[in-house]
Amino acid sequence: MPSNNMTLFYSPASPFVRKIMVLLHETGQLQKVDLHNVQLSPVAPNSDVVARNPSGKIPALQLADGDTLHDSRVILDYLDHQHSGEPVIPRSGPQRWQRLTLASLADAILDAAVLIRYETALRPEELHWPQWLEGQQAKIERALGEFEAQADTGALNTFDIATISLACALGYLDFRQPQLAWRERFPKLASWYSEVSQRDSLSKTQPPA
Ligand code: BEZ
Repeated sequence: MPSNNMTLFYSPASPFVRKIMVLLHETGQLQKVDLHNVQLSPVAPNSDVVARNPSGKIPALQLADGDTLHDSRVILDYLDHQHSGEPVIPRSGPQRWQRLTLASLADAILDAAVLIRYETALRPEELHWPQWLEGQQAKIERALGEFEAQADTGALNTFDIATISLACALGYLDFRQPQLAWRERFPKLASWYSEVSQRDSLSKTQPPA
């Protein structure tokens, strides 16, 4: 039977996809979206994804009318307008820009961590560029330091676009950089993450073991 559902082009390992899944859990919209699992990388694009998003990146969300939305920020904003509960992205005022800026900082952790992953897992070792890898890692460290400082201001007390993005970034670091030991250097963040990880939306969307 044809479905009126949206289709999310998906990989359980993608932290950008995970942000979407967390929002779907939090806003009670899981049943509106069919998941289309795809395998891809920058050097092995997926033709189903490329046909809908020329950048070849996931997440991409095909709507019931056939249009496709990307990237994760656009999809999050769209889905946040499709439910009647408390918005995950504040709709207006200084709060909107503050929370989106923090979400962007968490996305910067993800961008750097995913680039490091591609460089170390896909690129031949003799072509690795250590200074570039250090530069990406330094971005992650600076961003974690900022979130550690934000923990004192109450900025992590709301579960919204900023903290969903941060939790997905920390989850991805644990998944792809288990040696990083960020908890020792950022103890307030560690304590926050331990608590927030109990939420169904995070425990049910963990990256694959
Ligand atoms: C990963 O396996 O680390 C990954 C998969 C999809 C998108 C980004 C990262």
